[in-house]
Amino acid sequence: MVFFLLWAIAIQGAEYLKYKDPKQPLHARINDLISRMTLEEKIGQMTQIERNVTTPEIIKKYHIGSILIGGGSEPAPHASADTWMDMADEFQKEALSDRLGIPIIIGTDAIHGQNNAFNATIFPHNVGLGATRDPQLVKKIGAATALEVRATGIPYTFAPCIAVCRDPRWGRCFESYSEDHKIVQAMTELIPGLQGDIPANYPMNFPYVNNERIKVAGCAKHFVGDGGTINGIDEYDTIVDWNGLKNIHMPAYLDSIRKGVATVMVSYSSWNGKKMHANYNLITGYLKNKLKFKGFVISDSEGIDRITSPPHVNYTYSVQAGIQAGIDMVMVPYKFVEFIDDLTSLVKRNVIPMSRIDDAVERILRVKFILGLFENPMADRTLASQLGSQEHRELAREAVRKSLVLLKNGKNTDEPLLPLPKKARKILVAGSHANDIGNQCGGWTIAWHGHSGNITVGNTILTAIKNTVDPGTEVIYNENPDREFLNSNDFSYAIVIVGELPYSEYVGDSKDLTIAEPGYSTITNVCESVKCVVTIISGRPVVIEPYLEKMDAMVAAWLPGTEGQGVADVLYGNYGFTGKLARTWMRTVDQLPMNVGDPHYDPLFPFGYGLTTTPTELIAAQ
Ligand code: BGC
Ligand code: BGC
Repeated sequence: MVFFLLWAIAIQGAEYLKYKDPKQPLHARINDLISRMTLEEKIGQMTQIERNVTTPEIIKKYHIGSILIGGGSEPAPHASADTWMDMADEFQKEALSDRLGIPIIIGTDAIHGQNNAFNATIFPHNVGLGATRDPQLVKKIGAATALEVRATGIPYTFAPCIAVCRDPRWGRCFESYSEDHKIVQAMTELIPGLQGDIPANYPMNFPYVNNERIKVAGCAKHFVGDGGTINGIDEYDTIVDWNGLKNIHMPAYLDSIRKGVATVMVSYSSWNGKKMHANYNLITGYLKNKLKFKGFVISDSEGIDRITSPPHVNYTYSVQAGIQAGIDMVMVPYKFVEFIDDLTSLVKRNVIPMSRIDDAVERILRVKFILGLFENPMADRTLASQLGSQEHRELAREAVRKSLVLLKNGKNTDEPLLPLPKKARKILVAGSHANDIGNQCGGWTIAWHGHSGNITVGNTILTAIKNTVDPGTEVIYNENPDREFLNSNDFSYAIVIVGELPYSEYVGDSKDLTIAEPGYSTITNVCESVKCVVTIISGRPVVIEPYLEKMDAMVAAWLPGTEGQGVADVLYGNYGFTGKLARTWMRTVDQLPMNVGDPHYDPLFPFGYGLTTTPTELIAAQ
């Protein structure tokens, strides 16, 4: 061994660097590396900047530790897997050529598949996955997402969102699996899907990521209470006592840590008036000291800026409060020179002790070492074909099938409309969401807020219906048919597909929870003329009670993603309906907030509701 080392040093003329030796124990590598680092290099590790402001020179000059690919950020429109990997490798090469050669970690929001990448498989948003009640399925989605994220050269995703959305007026409700923390806890199975299964004898509650380049580091977010803000106002204040916080919003963090989650993101929101980004007691006192979380804590994007109101008015104070609260990596992501200057001066003036900086850097390096970035920093080109692969699309289609919740089936229960007959003379498909990939994917798809239209590769529900019916069935598509059109045609039945238009974050906050116009008139016109099933595409329960009586059947399809075929599979009885509401469906918005277990619970459809159907094949066999 010694001989080999001397020989290696002689050949390379290089010094033996303990931190570069994968045979050394983790703590020895971390300590060795930290002991070699300057303050500038340490602060660089704590700095995350956006891809679109990153240049090779900046990476080198500021020793940048991490890059954010934010919502809608991409190296080029319709970039291929190889273009993504070229981008990642270019950044990585620059980081590796720095004095100590510390690999950079690139992170992105792959929150329903690798949703920034064109042609990626887009899975149903979490609100739909909650309805599946199937944590093993969610784990498989995690594994597929990891592969597609790796197919774009990226080893880190800001998922899962483990918010417990207590009020659907919140614009991020679709990122939440359920109003019930037990369902959210169960769905933390996404984490072993993304990161890999913890090996036997691995230390308890310690970050874990399989280092074979097929897995990615995850991020439980947003710590804590993001889903509990007053009236569902995004980034606002969660007013609840410690027991409420601990029993509703905290439990899934314990599961996430037990499952080895690598990072935790802090919430923009406040708890009882105190900004989470400045909350020492919860970040350091509870998460790090009490729960013994050993990965790194990352801020949200410009999250420390928002410690002050208005944001960024006293950035030095923001940096001080955020770092002292226990944030390890700051998602700056634009004004990084100011961040670096402020943090440097705070340390030099002894306002922030060096021990706090070393704690942050230790955690960041720990994740980088565990992830295998030092051994395998570059993208694996053989993974390119994973992006949008047929296998992943089949998995997404299965998830769509299982996420659908059947809320009404027939005006009389003894005359169910579903499953629909494949053989009919002529049928109508209508609605703003029938033939629109962007609408069925929702927010965080290609663009930050998503987008209507043909934004990526997939099957619209209209296409899926056409693929599913008998070849002799004539399918007429009319987005918003008028009475005359409806009366002059003799339709056997109609499928109306309407819902919310894409949005994300605060842009999605809604006081009225209505669907997009002319959705309600499409429902009224069609359902008053033709036997109809209404399929609602939405990130949450929407106001529907006044229209329910007109419908013969109603399905909640949530935000299904690119695989619209899953909707047709179940409408037409190739599979049965099995999904159960993971949210309470209110009658009116003034009932809100209203969650399962509340006194005076009077929903239109209660939590857990969902009718079932028998697959047609099985009916035929009976
Ligand atoms: C969101 C986070 C996200 C981050 C990076 C923020 O606006 O709150 O959930 O991870 O942006 O895109
Ligand atoms: C970015 C998103 C980010 C949002 C809020 C947008 O400009 O693209 O990733 O979540 O800003 O900070």
